[in-house]
Amino acid sequence: MERKVALVAGASGIIGRGIVECLTQRGDWEVIALARKPSDAVNHARFVSVDLLDPRDCHDKLGTLSDITHVFYAAYKEQPSEPGQVAVNGAMLRNLVQVVEAAAPGLVHINQMQGAKAYGCQFGPFKTPAKETDPRHFPPNFYYDQEDFLRERQQGKAWTWSALRPNLVIGPGAGHPMNMIMVIAVYAVICRELGIPLWFPGTHAGFSILLEATDVAHLASAAIWTATEPRCGNEVFNITNGDYFRWQHLWPGFADYFGMKAAPPLPIPLAEMMADKGHVWEQMTQKSGLRPYRLDQLVSWGFGEFVFRIPYDTISDTTKARRYGFHDVVETEEMFRRKFTELREQKYIP
Ligand SMILES: NC(=O)c1ccc[n+]([C@@H]2O[C@H](COP(=O)([O-])OP(=O)(O)OC[C@H]3O[C@@H](n4cnc5c(N)ncnc54)[C@H](OP(=O)(O)O)[C@@H]3O)[C@@H](O)[C@H]2O)c1
Repeated sequence: MERKVALVAGASGIIGRGIVECLTQRGDWEVIALARKPSDAVNHARFVSVDLLDPRDCHDKLGTLSDITHVFYAAYKEQPSEPGQVAVNGAMLRNLVQVVEAAAPGLVHINQMQGAKAYGCQFGPFKTPAKETDPRHFPPNFYYDQEDFLRERQQGKAWTWSALRPNLVIGPGAGHPMNMIMVIAVYAVICRELGIPLWFPGTHAGFSILLEATDVAHLASAAIWTATEPRCGNEVFNITNGDYFRWQHLWPGFADYFGMKAAPPLPIPLAEMMADKGHVWEQMTQKSGLRPYRLDQLVSWGFGEFVFRIPYDTISDTTKARRYGFHDVVETEEMFRRKFTELREQKYIP
């Protein structure tokens, strides 16, 4: 069996953790998991603690890893402005690639994680379903900067790159800046604890737009497919579950799952309203033996507030991946129920 050695950057993130899990389950990969802080998510991989913003640290910790064949790049450091995102996230990728490329002569592929923000979905209505060939929005955008770096760097080299564009990645985990399943699940169980129905905490427009989500396991499998399918070299793919949804159709099912009554939209400022619920969560944690996270360590409410108020369709076209041979799909409504159950089993929620 061909020996493949994966370096997963951002291995404790929602996406990186999913890729580590998927690779280790396959059995034919040796996996090196990279982040600054170790995490229980990377138990089955060799962990290397590296600060990608520190070129010296990259050199010292990665410079001897000569057997890396594939890089899965899902490291991310959120910044308050887009120029800041470019400066920080661009430097992290450059520092990693420069060292790994020099150290690993057998490097085959670098997979870069992008997202629907490549289409400008964070700014306003954009052309939907978005296609990989759609023109770029007015710069800067850190995904463009990272992709352009890989495009240029790859010229004349034996390795290839690819980029994936998921939307609303759904996977368990505490303290991630963009984690919708935690927003929904923790909000729901707090409402239940307070004895109120499950109001949709966004706008009427947000309730009825078309959206899409991406199961992290599905995304991880697509990343491995892209990295190992030669036809995918130097290509960009939208990867989502493959269906679309409206919150208004899922909301009654969510309420049913948590044993509550569903209620219509009421656009509360989630981050502000959750600021005094720490004690409620602490009591719930003790009563149900949950993982000992403070509420403010667990969920980024601002992200949920943004997503629940998007007033325009936010969907992409996934036919390119299918044309190239990736045929897996996920039924989103079923996925949410399954992920809620995983959160319960993993003691994130009661
Ligand atoms: N989450 C979503 O819904 C979503 C949707 C579409 C696209 N994306 C894109 O996917 C990418 C990954 O997102 P994510 O949500 O998985 O991010 P995340 O959960 O915030 O994870 C980020 C990872 O990067 C690591 N990291 C941060 N700074 C680092 C540094 N200086 N050196 C080394 N590692 C560092 C973090 O670990 P340490 O802090 O321990 O270093 C963590 O493992 C991003 O480009 C994001 O825009 C995400």
